[in-house]
Amino acid sequence: MTLLRLPIPPEVKVIYLDNGATSFPKPQAVYERMDTFYRSAGVNPGRSGFDLCLEAGALVDDTRKLLCAFFGGTDPNRLVFTANSTDALNLAIWGSLRPGDHVVTTHLEHNATLRPLWKLQQEGSPVDWVDFDDTGYVDPQEVIRRFRPETKACVMNHASNVLGTVQDAATIGAACRERGIRFILDVSQSAGMVPVKLDELNADILCFTGHKSLMGPMGTGGMYVREGVELRRTRAGGTGVKSVQREHLDEYPYRMEYGTPNLPGIAGLNAGVTWVNQLGLEAIHHHEMSLWTRLRNGLAGIDGVRLYCAQDQPGHQRISVLSFNVDGLEAADVGTMLDVDHNIACRTGLHCTPMVHEHLGTVVRHGAVRFGIGAFNHEEHVLAAIAGVREIAAGAKRRAKRVETEALV
Ligand SMILES: Cc1ncc(COP(=O)(O)O)c(C=O)c1O
Repeated sequence: MTLLRLPIPPEVKVIYLDNGATSFPKPQAVYERMDTFYRSAGVNPGRSGFDLCLEAGALVDDTRKLLCAFFGGTDPNRLVFTANSTDALNLAIWGSLRPGDHVVTTHLEHNATLRPLWKLQQEGSPVDWVDFDDTGYVDPQEVIRRFRPETKACVMNHASNVLGTVQDAATIGAACRERGIRFILDVSQSAGMVPVKLDELNADILCFTGHKSLMGPMGTGGMYVREGVELRRTRAGGTGVKSVQREHLDEYPYRMEYGTPNLPGIAGLNAGVTWVNQLGLEAIHHHEMSLWTRLRNGLAGIDGVRLYCAQDQPGHQRISVLSFNVDGLEAADVGTMLDVDHNIACRTGLHCTPMVHEHLGTVVRHGAVRFGIGAFNHEEHVLAAIAGVREIAAGAKRRAKRVETEALV
């Protein structure tokens, strides 16, 4: 399989290696669909019966079907649109758990999961936190050992946004199903990178964001709620249907959707997912992981660079993010040098995952530097990143040596 070589729009002047935060640029079809749809049919969907309104409603329905099929769901109405995956995770967590309920989770989680769970913990919920090992994987048996007869849910990340490791969700999901424990899976990083199918992962609820590898715009996301799984409504509002009813609607998708949807966003997400389907997950993943391997090998050979959980682990999948630090430098300084001196955009800091950095011991240096490779990256980007980090690491070494020598004088 050959590497992709997707054209980068001339407006993009930077070497963008921050695709873990959001994919950029988007496929041309995403910009075009958002623009033309919003100009020609940007009306409130499902609120009236005029033609444009029906057209807007049809776009929302089509996108539900598209995403339902993408995630291997059976009922498009169980595909709920939200503002992003933080929103979806909040709806899933607060709609599944009450203060006092026991829940199991991991140290790999994003604040989108951690903060709702910490709040629940403050309100009396016992939360079991399972750590990951030195390779970046959570032992599924350790998660299962934490299940109690009264456990209500297991909430966890499919792919780590810092380490790139893809967890064995299927084994954990199967154990949840046997015990009647709700399995809520955060697929924010994995969706669009590796296959994410509800049944293969034995998930009850998949929470996704639209603006990463699904290639949609920011402000889009959602969840797929398996049939038979009921979420408590934690909000109420307009749905455009059954307006006389005083209670918010019970039926999906309205049960979990509140107010006017992000129509231009949904148009863009539709184009993004269609683009991913056309290119094929396998081709995209092959491209991204080939570049990732090149980057990992290049960085691993640089004196003073410390990579986190980047060794290949046979039998385990990963996605194309890579985190590291340079000896003697704060992560943020490396990010600034990459930007200013090498025109490379990356992410530095704690990546909204404080527990990952506590485990890695990187909180003291304010996190790590993260490269996130996307479909639009080319081999030259990776080579530039390796060269940039090599120069930065060599500079840090020279400075350290100078300081040492001065101290001796
Ligand atoms: C693993 C994971 N979960 C949740 C989120 C939250 O996504 P959003 O900001 O789109 O809500 C992110 C975003 O970085 C993430 O990487």
